[in-house]
Amino acid sequence: MEQQKPQPVTESKIVGVPTPRIDGPLKTTGAAMYSSDHHFPGLVYAWPVTATIASGTISGIDASAAEKMPGVLAIYTHKNIGPLYRTPPSAGFSMILDERRPPLEDETVSYYGQYVAVAVAHTVEQARAAAEAVKVTYAKTPHNTNDKLLDTPTVAGKPKEVTKRGDAAAALAGATYKHDAVYSTPAETHNPIELHASVAVYKDGKFTLYETSQAVVNHRDVMAAMLGVPPENVQVITRFLGSGFGGKLWPWPHAMLAAASARNLNRPVKLVVSRSMMFQSVGHRPTIDQRVQLAADKSGKLLAIRHDYVNHTSMLDDYDEGCAESTGFMYSCPNVLATSGLVRRNVGTPTSMRGPGAVPGLYAFESAMDELAIKLDIDPVQLRLLNEPEKDESTGQPFSSRHLKECLTVGAEKFGWAKRNPAIGLMKDAEGRTLGWGVAACTWIATRTDAEVNVELRQDGTARVTCGTQDIGGGTYTAVAQMVSHETGIPLQRTDVVMGDSGLPPGPISGGSWATASVVPAALQAAQQASKQLLLLATKTDGCPFKGKSADELEFVDGVVRMKGQTSGALPFGEILKAANVRSVSATGKSTGLFGDPNQKFSFHSYGAQFAEVTWQPEIARLRVSRVVTVIDAGRMVNPRAARNQIEGAVVMGVGMAMLEATEYDQRSGAPINASLADYIVAVNADCPAIDVTFLDYPDFNLNPLGARGVGEIGLAGIAAAITNAVHHATGIRVRNLPLRIEDLL
Ligand code: MOS
Repeated sequence: MEQQKPQPVTESKIVGVPTPRIDGPLKTTGAAMYSSDHHFPGLVYAWPVTATIASGTISGIDASAAEKMPGVLAIYTHKNIGPLYRTPPSAGFSMILDERRPPLEDETVSYYGQYVAVAVAHTVEQARAAAEAVKVTYAKTPHNTNDKLLDTPTVAGKPKEVTKRGDAAAALAGATYKHDAVYSTPAETHNPIELHASVAVYKDGKFTLYETSQAVVNHRDVMAAMLGVPPENVQVITRFLGSGFGGKLWPWPHAMLAAASARNLNRPVKLVVSRSMMFQSVGHRPTIDQRVQLAADKSGKLLAIRHDYVNHTSMLDDYDEGCAESTGFMYSCPNVLATSGLVRRNVGTPTSMRGPGAVPGLYAFESAMDELAIKLDIDPVQLRLLNEPEKDESTGQPFSSRHLKECLTVGAEKFGWAKRNPAIGLMKDAEGRTLGWGVAACTWIATRTDAEVNVELRQDGTARVTCGTQDIGGGTYTAVAQMVSHETGIPLQRTDVVMGDSGLPPGPISGGSWATASVVPAALQAAQQASKQLLLLATKTDGCPFKGKSADELEFVDGVVRMKGQTSGALPFGEILKAANVRSVSATGKSTGLFGDPNQKFSFHSYGAQFAEVTWQPEIARLRVSRVVTVIDAGRMVNPRAARNQIEGAVVMGVGMAMLEATEYDQRSGAPINASLADYIVAVNADCPAIDVTFLDYPDFNLNPLGARGVGEIGLAGIAAAITNAVHHATGIRVRNLPLRIEDLL
């Protein structure tokens, strides 16, 4: 469908202004209802029974003792859970989930922690005690949770080409200056503070599901398919999220266990996934090995790039991390080959984790660039500047808006890069600690998806805005309100934004950093159309001074209707609705996404430069990330305050990725054994460096009328490489296995 291209919004009193989140007071006062906060009369609790083997079959389940325990209502297994269906293959951008086998489908066990039964009881303690009393016996088969992935058989049998041009093998063979190394990153577990949870209410064949979902519309469609009911019989509600980092994008088996239990018992069921189960069955970033080969001429111009990665996936699903997503367009190079491979392991199915693909991919690639710069004796900032492409060489498309060079030069200036002594370990701070300075470039996809937004202008002088998207915590409520306020002049405090309900006009997923870019055009269009409705009403209302005028002669600005350009005689819009005895006027705006659009003319990406400083005290083996300067080119920031937050949070997560986070599988049992926040270490306040965030302000009007791209993930890309590059500068030690451990530096 051809859409009229909306006018770019170049000036605004509210868009681009640092704005506190409108939902902040609800959160800080405890009034915000998170999914597991929902409670209903007669609600009962479910607690899953998890497999204690990583491969094999269930030979028997003895629930007789558990069933007789106090408060127990049911123990469901593959024998009695009732119908749960598979979804048809995902067509386009719908019906997405990563673990496709419904829970309790049969006797098969393919990873440690897989659900094998679920206990339902009156209290959560009773349910948990009953779950622990269920005796499951297994016929075990050998499992494999080994993290060595290179040179092992892949699912496809041979590497899959991701991007290719020229002849990388020949160029590598003939080059004098080259680099070849393998970079390994561990499985990482999403640890949002809010646990995954489902509260399922079943009544008269209809399900109301309070879920921790980054995509309520997709969640509804998947659940309807798996429960075998029409989509209109399922409503998914996620008013607030205590983040998700991608782990909550697609439905996971606990949601089906809760819904099926509610259906079977005909009463509300609450299931909260425990922290240890969060390491098993709600996705993770997979273990990855990446071999990167680079060749350059003496001046530093890249001659060849080869990037081969292999990631683990589960036994039943094919999850591809996509590490080479940016390999084809990041730098100018005539000969490029990137390939992917998947290796099966007895683990839960991996999933997207903040910056899937690009984050581990750029750790490897930007480390390799640093190593090449050292070989060539070229400054690492210069090496990147030297290889700036003029267009996306993987597709031939022009870049919609790319300012990577400026990110690098502005970042270098802010960081003080000119003072860097490239020799290893010679720079010291005032306290005598050794300093290391490292740099990495980064990128992340920019796009938009289909979205609908409804705007209702009401008699009481307020606006109601609805969209079936959700706020992961990044500020979507506020961004949507800003857009409508920009168009209508209705202040934020008189704008109600309602989201997180699959029954609302379908909105984007809270993922891919594209929610803002996707809702912008639809919200603007809805506000414009609702304004037109209002002006039309003004011309047709008895007793209204605008009666008989043409709507074209009127305008709706700053919340009032007036003759175009005249400040006198203006009427607050609520007065017009009152005079007409119309409670509200409303309109829906729609925009179409870019996925699968054959007419897409541009290569849309955001860019950035990450500069990191580490301090190293070899005498006490203490390494700290002391300072990060990050410069981001992600179009216009709708709300610079929330955007800065996103980048700061991502930098802290990057410290965790570089130095702390790894899910450890016990090779004997296949269990993720550090499955708690005591044993799986994430970065905390004490680990935070001083963070300097700069946004380059280049609105990308090819993407949407606001020129906004999105900032949820790019802040994490490049950080781990910047840190390990800095560590090399301080210590001379190159870390190619994350997380960096202090032993590596001794
Ligand atoms: Mo993000 S990993 O798309 O939530």
